[in-house]
Amino acid sequence: MNETMTASLTPDRILQTGMAFWGSKALLSAVELRVFTVLADGPLTGEQLRQRLRLHPRAVPDFLDTLLALGFLRREGSGEQAAYSNTAETQLFLDRNSPAYVGGILEMANARLYPFWADLTEALRSGRPQNEIKHSGEPMFAKLYEDPARLEQFMAAMSGISAGNFTLLAEKFDFSRHATLADIGGATGQLSCIVAARHPHLRCTSLDLPKVTAIAERQIERRGMSERVRAQPLDFFADPFPRADVITMGMILHDWNLERKLQLMRKAFDALPEGGCLIAVDNLIDDDRRENAFALLMSLNMLIEFGDAFDYTGADFTGWAREVGFRRAEIIPLAGPGRAAVAWK
Ligand SMILES: C[S@@+](CC[C@H](N)C(=O)[O-])C[C@H]1O[C@@H](n2cnc3c(N)ncnc32)[C@H](O)[C@@H]1O
Repeated sequence: MNETMTASLTPDRILQTGMAFWGSKALLSAVELRVFTVLADGPLTGEQLRQRLRLHPRAVPDFLDTLLALGFLRREGSGEQAAYSNTAETQLFLDRNSPAYVGGILEMANARLYPFWADLTEALRSGRPQNEIKHSGEPMFAKLYEDPARLEQFMAAMSGISAGNFTLLAEKFDFSRHATLADIGGATGQLSCIVAARHPHLRCTSLDLPKVTAIAERQIERRGMSERVRAQPLDFFADPFPRADVITMGMILHDWNLERKLQLMRKAFDALPEGGCLIAVDNLIDDDRRENAFALLMSLNMLIEFGDAFDYTGADFTGWAREVGFRRAEIIPLAGPGRAAVAWK
């Protein structure tokens, strides 16, 4: 044993993080293969699951027992008769037919982010994106949305990652004094639907690129919110923002460089009445930039996706809000590292 290895100093954390991609990819492949959706109807033996998932015999039981050991499956018994089933969490959040499904973000992580992150070192050296635009240099959303399947996948990913934050925003923010809300870059209309369902007096408009409007209309209809939520096309750089008492931007500011961030905040300021507010929902980095590893990794993910885009702290947001002319700002904790950064006009 190495002399420096003492009882209080072990390499465990280093090795755990260094090898974390094994466990991550096992879960992502399980989502891709629909393991948790197949098991939603009840327990299956390893052989039954193997046939349903069309796996090679070598994959079983290692793959399933790995998911068991990671805490994503349960198993009754052992050997060939052992029956695998979902845990309470995977049954609720990873069955594709569950209304609480969050696997959209994992499907996108598996198909896109996992291979792109293999080029993190190159991104760190070059400052350049490593995704679909790596070789073309085209704008990221235009390139991504050329392929309808990727567009749908990105929309499902956003719904998966944002549902918890929007639900808490609807609970925690006092919408009672406001009548209208415009969600800029609203994707499927999820924020508008969740907030309007919780606050029946509000009328909401979800605005996103024209290719997204039909998807949002379908989702708003499916959620039964068509009476109070509208979807409208908007290019948030080229078009003026509609007037609204509250303007929300869910994971929008982090997609852009500082100049674009300020441009979007100014446009929001101009479209708000006195007493109105801009609410940016993002994974805020802690002000001292020491603790919130998820938000910092998200910011590195913005390097991979866009190059010059970056995540930010509450203090950054407050400073930009002042620069734009807002009276004051406040930060409201949402789900996990999620925060609502609110700027009041
Ligand atoms: C990271 S997603 C966030 C989606 C959603 N607000 C959420 O928080 O889950 C960014 C959104 O910005 C939209 N977007 C990108 N460029 C845009 C533009 N120029 N005008 C309007 N929307 C745009 C994308 O289509 C996408 O829906």
